[in-house]
Amino acid sequence: MRAARTSKVAIIGAGSVGATMAFATLMRGTARHVALYDINTAKVRAEALDLVHGVQFMPPAQIEGSDDIEVCRGADVVVVTAGAKQKPGQTRLDLAESTVGLMRTIIPQVTAVAPDAVYVMVTNPVDVVTRAALAISGLPPNQLFGSGTVLDTSRLRYRLAEESGLAAQNVHAYVVGEHGDSEIPLWSSAMIGAVPLLDWSTTHAPLLDAASREAIATEVVEAAYTVIAGKGATNYAVALAGVSIIEAVLRDENRVLSVSTLIEDYVGISDVCLSVPTVVGADGAGEKLVPPMTPAELTGLRASADRIREVLRGLGF
Ligand code: LAC
Repeated sequence: MRAARTSKVAIIGAGSVGATMAFATLMRGTARHVALYDINTAKVRAEALDLVHGVQFMPPAQIEGSDDIEVCRGADVVVVTAGAKQKPGQTRLDLAESTVGLMRTIIPQVTAVAPDAVYVMVTNPVDVVTRAALAISGLPPNQLFGSGTVLDTSRLRYRLAEESGLAAQNVHAYVVGEHGDSEIPLWSSAMIGAVPLLDWSTTHAPLLDAASREAIATEVVEAAYTVIAGKGATNYAVALAGVSIIEAVLRDENRVLSVSTLIEDYVGISDVCLSVPTVVGADGAGEKLVPPMTPAELTGLRASADRIREVLRGLGF
């Protein structure tokens, strides 16, 4: 086990997600050095300048912004957010071809200056991008993985907390599979406080009965479309999900997060990247946990894997 890392985080992409992630990283004191990289010189310099103007209001940190990949040199964690934004009505998988093309350019450049970093892919479609970036970089699957359904899991926990009236920190439930339309909430292993969720809906009827669970699942899957329809993009929650992953790595927390990793022989699923509960620490993505799943949940997870693999095959991966 490597010693806990010093803290340089490099963020590729100074768009709304990357800039918000830089802000959140700094405000939480997650890293002592934050570097923003983007090919848009004016934008990346302006984002860095706007951040450094607030240094007196945040924990001590060094902030840089540049169109030169050298700014990422020696990073301990590299987060890749660069890519096209989903337009209203567009699915994440619709972005696959253009985004993978971008990865073919950027991944070799950044791994040359930060070969030992842990890489967190956020760019959508994140499962496809993660598989492609692994192939392009040649990095081991613990060292490069995607934010996956960490955000969707947060959205699910928020709604379950709201319905049950308990703190979101006391809701344990995971969304698995694609970070996208085929994702699956694992109701059968969900816990509200110390109570299995499926028992909660009998002891606290009609809370969280089958109908409300179905409605919540739809809300979670459609959450990004809803936000995009109103403000054009999502940025806050995905940035915070990314910071939670960065902290799990830099602080060697061994947190169980539904990140997107290369799956080999997991309930019969292989050779695809998707999200399952995974231990994340200083060495990146570690053990994948196998929660009990109903036949319907297993079928849904396998269908999600097939959907992602279909897009990957079409791109030659
Ligand atoms: C979302 C984007 C990050 O789900 O895919 O908000």
